[in-house]
Amino acid sequence: MTAHSVSGARMMALGAALPEKVLTNHDLAKMVDTTHEWILERTGIHERRIGGTTAGLAAEAGRIAIERSGIDPATIDLLILATTSPDRRVPATASTVQEILGLSCGAMDLNAACSGFVYALIAAHGFINLGHHRVLVIGAETLSRMTDWTDRGTCILFADGAGAAVIERTEGPGDLHGWHVDSNGALESALYCDFDAKIEMSGQAIFKNAVLAMEHAARQSLEMAEMSAADIDIVIPHQANVRIVEASCKRLGIPYDKTSMVIHRTGNTSSASVPLALEDAWIGGRVKKGDRLLLVGFGAGMTSAAAVITWDGK
Ligand code: ACO
Repeated sequence: MTAHSVSGARMMALGAALPEKVLTNHDLAKMVDTTHEWILERTGIHERRIGGTTAGLAAEAGRIAIERSGIDPATIDLLILATTSPDRRVPATASTVQEILGLSCGAMDLNAACSGFVYALIAAHGFINLGHHRVLVIGAETLSRMTDWTDRGTCILFADGAGAAVIERTEGPGDLHGWHVDSNGALESALYCDFDAKIEMSGQAIFKNAVLAMEHAARQSLEMAEMSAADIDIVIPHQANVRIVEASCKRLGIPYDKTSMVIHRTGNTSSASVPLALEDAWIGGRVKKGDRLLLVGFGAGMTSAAAVITWDGK
């Protein structure tokens, strides 16, 4: 596989949506045996947002991304919704989002846990390579519905939110230079959620493997892009834990201040975390035309995914 087998698409514009309800560490300290200081020191999280439905948050982020891109929604050929917390088993939540947004296109969910948005982004480039013109990619979650609010080992981490990107066909090679997707099903027991149950997690096992998985996915995608870590202007990592991101950056030789971090105000929003961090950097003016971005995620499965892109959007 070479980077040249994928091309011809670019990310145009982004959108984000968070529920109104803020849950602070101090609020959690009234619910379980924990403190603001412990959560902040171990994770980097100050507060998170909870509430809403996955479809509702996804549609809001998607609507904003479409508006900012300035495109006619009728020109969207496909909606890919990365989520691990769909509103129903059937139908795909993407179909509900399609209806809310009034789109006339294909729609499907993609579940690769916290790596989901990066998987979906790569899949969108593939669909465009096969002839689609525009794809709306959304990562959206309502993890609060799968969280055991009596378990201090997990409830301090997870939250709700959505981020979206409009991807369109371009003349020329496009913005994606290298990518990698992976999964290690042997680690399934480290993080799972059965039907009608709550998330079970072995935090330390996830921590250790997450650092290795992020480094591996990043190195593979950089190699395909024929770039080194020094070529990257901004890293958009999955927002699971500040310490995981710090450790991964150290192993990759990328200064931590090159990362976009929103975890302090969003918590871990799984599939939504990469687009939320990307949108924050873009809206804040940190992402400029020609910047080289490394998007990298890991999650339950354990899945991992990375993409090296040049920003060619608005
Ligand atoms: N408040 C206070 N003490 C706590 C809390 C809490 N909320 N949670 C656990 N502790 C205690 C433990 O009971 C333990 O006490 P002990 O020493 O008396 O036994 C002590 O703190 C240390 O516990 P550890 O689990 O070793 O703490 P650690 O430093 O590993 O931090 C954490 C825990 C934050 C969960 C960390 O392991 C982590 O972030 N892991 C990765 C989790 C993750 O990223 N999950 C999402 C993956 S992405 C996806 O797919 C959704």
